[in-house]
Amino acid sequence: MDLIDKLYKNKDLGNDELKYVIEHGNLEKLMNLSDIVRRKYYGDKVYIRGLIEISNFCKNDCYYCGIRCTNKNVVRYRLSEEEILNCCDIVFGLGIRTFVMQGGEDVWFSDDVMCSIIAKIKKKYPDCAITLSLGERTYESYKKMYDFGADRYLLRHETADNAHYNKLHPDSMSLENRKECLFNLKEIGYQTGSGFMVGSPYQTTDNLISDLRFLQELRPHMIGIGPYISHKDTPFCEYKNGALELTLKMLAILRLMFNTALIPSTTALSSISENGRELGLKAGGNVVMPNLSPMSVRDKYSLYNN
Ligand code: 5AD
Repeated sequence: MDLIDKLYKNKDLGNDELKYVIEHGNLEKLMNLSDIVRRKYYGDKVYIRGLIEISNFCKNDCYYCGIRCTNKNVVRYRLSEEEILNCCDIVFGLGIRTFVMQGGEDVWFSDDVMCSIIAKIKKKYPDCAITLSLGERTYESYKKMYDFGADRYLLRHETADNAHYNKLHPDSMSLENRKECLFNLKEIGYQTGSGFMVGSPYQTTDNLISDLRFLQELRPHMIGIGPYISHKDTPFCEYKNGALELTLKMLAILRLMFNTALIPSTTALSSISENGRELGLKAGGNVVMPNLSPMSVRDKYSLYNN
């Protein structure tokens, strides 16, 4: 049997088989089968989440990211509680029922500040879901925000290979801590999202297989992936972008392995290709997260160029 048919049937393959599919598998066939699987579980529904980028301050210095703390060319901003609540009104007015508050690791957004915002949003919009994407925090911090009404949390593991992780991040960060955060989030009860970049510097096919294996262990509700895109103000500015084809292939493989996962067709994908967003949906995606941050700050939250 063809390996792709086997993946479709068994929702899994051995490492050597996965390697072959990632490197030589037929993209069209992968996309056709992932489309069948997505339709089976979700019909033609696409879920929409309103993304609000609340701050581009970050204490971390990830080598790939445009808002890393040592980048002096970023005009830093953070939204006030009032601006965030206004944004939620706009998102709600558009008919969107999930607010995603994403930001760099900004110490200004302490647990008290976040809990106050979460409580106000929940009071005004009790039937809406609140998703947070604020990086690594303590168990207690995640728990407090959950108890105040946060429902979901997005934290990509970025890469599940330890040596690769250390090539993308400074010594102050560790894969071990990142994984611990993810398991804490799940234990607390968050609907948890993780994911990784495709084509990041030094990434090998074996690294991608480690990402799939880690996701099998974590079993997140959402899996977000997108191509690595170089940013001019980072140490990785010379590295080339992740490829569209490889990203689509990984999306399709994710859909075949994780049939019911929520898989966004990400902004990064639409940044490297004119119809990237549509292709991401065709490859198995079933979520879009339009950026609904205030216009005045949109260009400042630049994780990657363009
Ligand atoms: N290219 C692509 N994705 C990036 N991210 C950060 N920097 C880049 C980049 N240069 C992704 C990370 C992070 C998410 C919010 O954005 O995966 O988790």
